[in-house]
Amino acid sequence: MRRQRFDIVTLVWEIFELLEQQAAQRGTALQLFPPVLPEAGIQVVADRNRIRQVLVNLIDNAIKYGRDHGRVVVALVESGRSVRISVRDDGAGIAPEHQGRIFERFYRIDKSRSRESGGSGLGLAISKHIVEAHKSTIRVKSTVGEGTTLEFKLSKPKSGRVETKG
Ligand SMILES: Nc1ncnc2c1ncn2[C@@H]1O[C@H](COP(=O)(O)OP(=O)(O)OP(=O)(O)O)[C@@H](O)[C@H]1O
Ligand SMILES: [Mg+2]
Repeated sequence: MRRQRFDIVTLVWEIFELLEQQAAQRGTALQLFPPVLPEAGIQVVADRNRIRQVLVNLIDNAIKYGRDHGRVVVALVESGRSVRISVRDDGAGIAPEHQGRIFERFYRIDKSRSRESGGSGLGLAISKHIVEAHKSTIRVKSTVGEGTTLEFKLSKPKSGRVETKG
């Protein structure tokens, strides 16, 4: 874990660029919410590479398991000392009996369909591990036939920076 201060907005754009081709193949729109974000970005304190790995997996999942010509929305919402980061798709959703198990290693709901879309079933197990190493929790909310949201929080930098006066 290498905790550092960085802008989560820039990171999300970077990942959108990385997954642009894959999204285009399914006709999926990648969107950021709110559409107009603070010019200075949104600062968080976390291990940037590891959080990148989490977001790549969540957005990759949202594209793979979302619907064709659907959309994937990454929302960044500041509340108090933290920023809530969520990734939402409008795919088939995850039935309640599977929701608790998708974080297990190698757990894949529809083996044949999942095999088609590649992957090993490790992404969410690794993501959970990384988010928990940040003393946070990853949660799933899903409605069959409507879609799925995965979300977690990261800390904002402490205010009270030393400021030099003119
Ligand atoms: N957004 C989603 N909508 C519907 N099902 C999902 C979604 N995200 C994950 N799942 C289900 O949870 C399983 C586990 O996800 P996970 O990211 O761990 O593995 P994977 O994507 O199949 O493989 P890998 O991430 O290792 O490439 C998936 O195989 C899929 O069945
Ligand atoms: Mg995955």
